[in-house]
Amino acid sequence: MGYKEILLSPIKIGNKECKNRFFAQPMECVDSDEEGNPTDLTYQRYENLYKGDFGLVDLEAITVTNESRARKTQLEIMPRNEKALTKFIKRLKEVNPDTLIVFQLTHSGEISEPDFSRRVCVKPTYGLGGDLLSEEEVEHIMDQFAEASKIAEAVGADGVDMKLCHGYLGSQIIRPYNDRNWKYGGSWENRSRFAYDLMEKIKKSVSKDFLIGSKMSMWEGYPGGFGSADPESPLMDMTEPIDLIKGLEERGASYFVESLGNVHCAMNYMECLKDSPELSYLHIYFTDLMKKALKPETVVIGSHFTPFRGKKNKLLSVDPEKSGIFPVGAKCIEEGMMDMVGLGRQSFADPLTPLKLKEGREDEIHYCTMCMNCEELMIRQQPVGCVTYNRPYTKRFVECRKNFGKLNELHT
Ligand SMILES: Cc1cc2nc3c(=O)[nH]c(=O)nc-3n(C[C@H](O)[C@H](O)[C@H](O)COP(=O)(O)O)c2cc1C
Repeated sequence: MGYKEILLSPIKIGNKECKNRFFAQPMECVDSDEEGNPTDLTYQRYENLYKGDFGLVDLEAITVTNESRARKTQLEIMPRNEKALTKFIKRLKEVNPDTLIVFQLTHSGEISEPDFSRRVCVKPTYGLGGDLLSEEEVEHIMDQFAEASKIAEAVGADGVDMKLCHGYLGSQIIRPYNDRNWKYGGSWENRSRFAYDLMEKIKKSVSKDFLIGSKMSMWEGYPGGFGSADPESPLMDMTEPIDLIKGLEERGASYFVESLGNVHCAMNYMECLKDSPELSYLHIYFTDLMKKALKPETVVIGSHFTPFRGKKNKLLSVDPEKSGIFPVGAKCIEEGMMDMVGLGRQSFADPLTPLKLKEGREDEIHYCTMCMNCEELMIRQQPVGCVTYNRPYTKRFVECRKNFGKLNELHT
């Protein structure tokens, strides 16, 4: 089979049929209204992904509370958002009825922005910190996730993604650094309790066919982060991450999205800069570990495919014909390292990527230049989109630079 056939072949996720192997990564775009509802900009972005014929779309980090959040205009999922989200999903299903959508439920914890919300933590991280969460508060947060899942199903989503990646609250609780002596800290049994109890609570609030999965940083990339040997160790150890995905699978998770890194201190592992595209291979290694540890029917989704681009990428020592997103993605699927291919920055550069492959218009695909200006817009709390190929965002970026100057460091 050629790469086109492999990438366009259907796959089952839980009891749902996913039409192809393309996964649109959750991409926060800071463009909600004041109540956390989708605006015209949000509609445009997701309508484009739906037109682009992705098999599965992961709706960007949508916060289960507006008390603690990372972005000022972040999508929210609380009872007050139900009506607006119903209208939004209805519209997307009109554009493309058989693209599946899951919502990435999040709580930002210590990544919450104190300028407009309450920064909270499970154990203060050097350089971050915030109010220390009590056990009762964590239980309340889990109830908020469960309520959000109920709303997600009611508004027509196909499932949820419990965010356990990139240093947001889910990662903060499960990492070895959380050695505080409490119900959710210290031993692995205590630290994994959050993820397992959350899974059970979500399961109870939705119907049997509703998908539950998780995007996780298998290795956060710094001492004490998830996937470290102990609270201070710089050594990677996959015992806990592998145990966690198996435990979640046993409790009913039907898919996982691989990721690495932490938004505060290990960003290059999460989304590398232009000059280190070879970090993509690291993600394939972790995705393969996950796939091999889980049952064959559990869907594992690979991340960090944007750097492979088309034939013109910065990867050396490889034949350009074989090193683009499509040939590499298809090879990884064919050889059993993953089931689906996630596109993040590339989904900004060209939301029609899967459709263009399907229609034989590969030469019309705009490939992400990895300029990272989308990231800069996000850090500046501005609506996010592709600065290179989407004019309104180019203008917004120019304005942003005029107003705020250049960022000292992109990876902050
Ligand atoms: C602007 C921007 C926003 C992002 N928002 C999210 C998010 O909401 N949730 C998440 O899990 N990852 C988020 N990410 C990470 C991507 O989903 C993805 O894991 C990463 O960019 C690597 O994939 P890529 O090489 O295809 O871009 C974001 C990345 C960028 C650049």
